[in-house]
Amino acid sequence: MSEASLGRIVALLAAEGFTAEKAAVRCIQQQGDPRAAINSIIEHVPDETVTLTEADIEEVLTVEPPTRSDRTSEIRVVADMTGASTGTGTFDDFLALFRDRYDRLSTLLRDRVSARSIASLQTTNRARHGIGVIGLLTDVRSTGSGHWVLELEDRTGACRALIHRDNDLYGMVDELLLDQVLAIEGTLADDGGIIFVDALHQPEVPMSNQATRADESIEVALISDLHVGSQEFAEGAWETFVDWLDTSEAQSIEHLIISGDLVDGVGVYPNQSKELAIVDVYDQYRAAAEQLQAVPSDIQITIIPGNHDAVRLAEPQPAFGERIAKMFESIEARLVSNPGWIEIEGVTFLLYHGTSFDDVIASIPGGIVEYERPDAAMVQLLRKRHLAPTYGSRTRISPEPIDHLVIDQVPDVFHAGHTHTTGVDTYRDVRVINTGTWQHQTPFQRQVNIDPDVAIAAIVDLQDLSVTVRSFL
Ligand SMILES: [Fe+2]
Ligand SMILES: [Fe+2]
Repeated sequence: MSEASLGRIVALLAAEGFTAEKAAVRCIQQQGDPRAAINSIIEHVPDETVTLTEADIEEVLTVEPPTRSDRTSEIRVVADMTGASTGTGTFDDFLALFRDRYDRLSTLLRDRVSARSIASLQTTNRARHGIGVIGLLTDVRSTGSGHWVLELEDRTGACRALIHRDNDLYGMVDELLLDQVLAIEGTLADDGGIIFVDALHQPEVPMSNQATRADESIEVALISDLHVGSQEFAEGAWETFVDWLDTSEAQSIEHLIISGDLVDGVGVYPNQSKELAIVDVYDQYRAAAEQLQAVPSDIQITIIPGNHDAVRLAEPQPAFGERIAKMFESIEARLVSNPGWIEIEGVTFLLYHGTSFDDVIASIPGGIVEYERPDAAMVQLLRKRHLAPTYGSRTRISPEPIDHLVIDQVPDVFHAGHTHTTGVDTYRDVRVINTGTWQHQTPFQRQVNIDPDVAIAAIVDLQDLSVTVRSFL
């Protein structure tokens, strides 16, 4: 609109049922976008207003857009095993853990496979085709002639299953992990000693899965692996991130989630002390709390521990203990176990640090999963509906009567860290996100050839579940 369009402004106001003093019309004319100003005025002036004064216009046009602190999105902790650890490490505890895993995951498979108990295979003398079995995968080996033999166990016994090297399923065996729950279908050999496999089923995310979305455009910032206390903590980049959280671009962010390795810890790997800027672990947490103080106070912070944190190493890991928790009281950080389940405005987040990814990457061939594609390891675990199936590998697992590492329900967002590499994927409508680290490459990582993705945050819009990866380097 030009200076000459005073009459036009009057006409637009009249069309909305308003008259206006001349000073008010001039005030609207001076706005960069008079049409937008009129829309805002119509929205904000009291209903009974008929004639607009200059004061009315000034009041409306200085209304600030709503800030984060005007809103309070609802967050709920859905599952946190802190304080619920009862395992004592006895044989019975391990038995209970695997029974619970088997019971819960076999339920997911029974919808798709008509399964019989393994013990009943010994007594069957008919229906040798179409035999279904659900079990824990206890062994995989290759025969001299290049076929796979799997061993499965259920509550009643153990059986062997053969996958012929010419079978289309042959390649799928590479993706299996020991101690995962699996269903097979096939033909029982005449002597009852082995099943010739026609079909393999993992517990899986249903094809029809549809993630829940929030009604409003609320954003959540996901980060992991700060490693405060390390000489390589990316403090400059952290300051850039925290400053950004104060900008208008970040005004929809209401939550900050940190999925483990908040500090670098002490004695985590050989000669780590030479790479530490802060050698006392409690001083590391004090420093971490100070860094988090700089986050705008109207952003709610949730933290789970990782393998560098000062809680027990065996998973599930409880939330930080009292002494550390006190340091985070003033910022009201929500401290949850690893894994932890939270729900924000109806959207469910599975938070897991990711220590088991080392085992997944070591046992599934490169090309399927690798450190450069941490999201692929996460998808593998979603398909197995378990965060760390293999017992006795690098990931330490605490024997609990309830297997807290089972992925009972399908999350809407699955967030992890640990690999220090970034990966984002959508698997059957689940957002799968790994957010790298805030630690520059350490001499130890240089030795073992780890090239980290530094200063990464993933911003998830809960309304459409879009994910934006931002770098703050
Ligand atoms: Fe880490
Ligand atoms: Fe880690």
